[in-house]
Amino acid sequence: MCGIVGYIGKKGAYNILIKGLKRLEYRGYDSAGVAMINSNGALNVYKTKGKVCELENYVKDKDITGNIGIAHTRWATHGEPSSQNAHPHYSESRNLAIIHNGIIENYADLKKKLQEKGVHFRSDTDTEVLVQLIEYIQLQKKLDLLTAVQYALREVIGAYAIALLDKTNPNQIIAARKQSPLVVGIGKDEFFLGSDASPIVEYTDKVVYLEDGAIAVMRLGEELKIVNILNHKMDTPVQTIDINLGQIEKGGFPHFMLKEIFEQPECITNCMRGRVNTSANNVTLSAVIDYKKQLVNAKRFIIVACGTSWHAGLIGKQILESLCRKPVDVEYASEFRYRNPVLTKDDVVIAISQSGETADTLAAVNMAKEKGAFIYGICNAIGSSIPRSTDTGSYIHVGPEIGVASTKAFTGQVTVLTMLALALANVMGTIEEKKYLEIVKELSLIPDKMKEVLNLNDKIESLSRAFTYAHNFLYLGRGFSYPVALEGALKLKEISYIHAEGYPAAEMKHGPIALIDSDMPVVVVATHNALYEKVISNIQEIKARNARVIALVTKGDKTISKIADQVIELPATIECLEPLLSTIPLQLLAYHIAVCKGKNVDQPRNLAKSVTVE
Ligand code: F6R
Repeated sequence: MCGIVGYIGKKGAYNILIKGLKRLEYRGYDSAGVAMINSNGALNVYKTKGKVCELENYVKDKDITGNIGIAHTRWATHGEPSSQNAHPHYSESRNLAIIHNGIIENYADLKKKLQEKGVHFRSDTDTEVLVQLIEYIQLQKKLDLLTAVQYALREVIGAYAIALLDKTNPNQIIAARKQSPLVVGIGKDEFFLGSDASPIVEYTDKVVYLEDGAIAVMRLGEELKIVNILNHKMDTPVQTIDINLGQIEKGGFPHFMLKEIFEQPECITNCMRGRVNTSANNVTLSAVIDYKKQLVNAKRFIIVACGTSWHAGLIGKQILESLCRKPVDVEYASEFRYRNPVLTKDDVVIAISQSGETADTLAAVNMAKEKGAFIYGICNAIGSSIPRSTDTGSYIHVGPEIGVASTKAFTGQVTVLTMLALALANVMGTIEEKKYLEIVKELSLIPDKMKEVLNLNDKIESLSRAFTYAHNFLYLGRGFSYPVALEGALKLKEISYIHAEGYPAAEMKHGPIALIDSDMPVVVVATHNALYEKVISNIQEIKARNARVIALVTKGDKTISKIADQVIELPATIECLEPLLSTIPLQLLAYHIAVCKGKNVDQPRNLAKSVTVE
């Protein structure tokens, strides 16, 4: 996720900005940049693709003087990672420079209107549209910068945290936020700005967390002014913070994995933004609009992926088959690429990858492309190799995942697959209107239901203690819950090093039941769906062999609580959306067991975040 730093005061801005960017590196980024106004009034912008140290190398022979500046680390959302698309962005006259976190949803419309008025663009970003809009309004209406920002933000749909420098007014920084955090630090004759407090705490413990809709004006020699877009004053308290830097980077969580598990409601909201329209009750994916013919005419879908992404693919298969009535195969990319599979130009290959760099998935994509298949990517890392090799696709927009064990990417992938199935089924007419509306509505409620599930964290933490010394675990589920069982088992083995297997519950009696005894805890996803009664029989078979059962049930279940040893109650939802909720307790269970065992949760042994080798 992008990072913002700003400084205005008596000190040299550059070192503070660079240090601040380094403090924000943990958020993940693909490019970095700074803008400073020097004592002669020149507004200098320097930016590079890559790491902050590459930016430092780049500016070695440049003018980096000035007591006011803004800086940014970018995680690409619109336009590939490049120095051109990196922030800050100049306005047309180069009088203004902006940095921005978030997504401007109506950027395409705004850009078109500005281009028609003769404004020229230098990048592919939504951010540049914002700075151009501000300047256009400023010049057209002859307004000061604050008023122009207020006018421009009234036209913007989306989420943002922004900071602006104005060459013609070199003693002020203007910052604004909506749905994306921004913190102002107040020092003696100086102000600091950060997308969180980590670039600030080193200099001052007095901070203002800007509220949604706030615009902050930081002027040298004046008090901090905070107004809204209608220019009404906002009274936001100055707070004294007492936190260490390590805590802030992880947002107060002890590990990135836990932070990322807890981010899921927000991530899924971001993933659905601009796609699931709750007022019109529909789902739109630009890929389904732009490539309708290829998708509608596909004879078959083949999902290729590895690990957790493959588990998301298994859920995608069930939802695509049930809503779109097309055959779907799910393949391990590593097997598929070496199998000389039968592929035709009527096949659509869906490649799922968080990193977008997994070597096997990339090779499978390239092989399928050579055989003439149409390729659809579902990735997180913008501009990574897989989305660059595909014909089209949909990003999951869950922000960088730092913990090695994939959590929020999984629910993001399942959400995109669900939106794809809904959008496609709707255009193909394979779903009844009533069912379509019901799933769309329920999908929009999932982030709130995820929050309810996260409230179970304390309970899961305390029950996990009893399972720390188990050597084996079995995870069972049926239908949509079977891939959830696989994912739960993978999470546990990755980070706690306990051997765990996932099975379709009914397969138990074909072999694994031989393993069951009092030393084998069994996790059963037993939510109230079509196969509920059958899963109850499985639980009884397990209990008859003295194993301890942890059951995930739908809230209000009275039957399973009488049989299982531990019951975790989940909010009710439509069956195809259950994985979005039932995966979370399994992520938490694996996390807490691994923490109890003293394991390195964020960087488990032998594992890499991005598997770029075979
Ligand atoms: C599991 C995990 C791995 C990845 C797999 C694919 O927690 O992280 O199993 O899911 O290596 O990675 P991507 O999705 O980046 O292709």
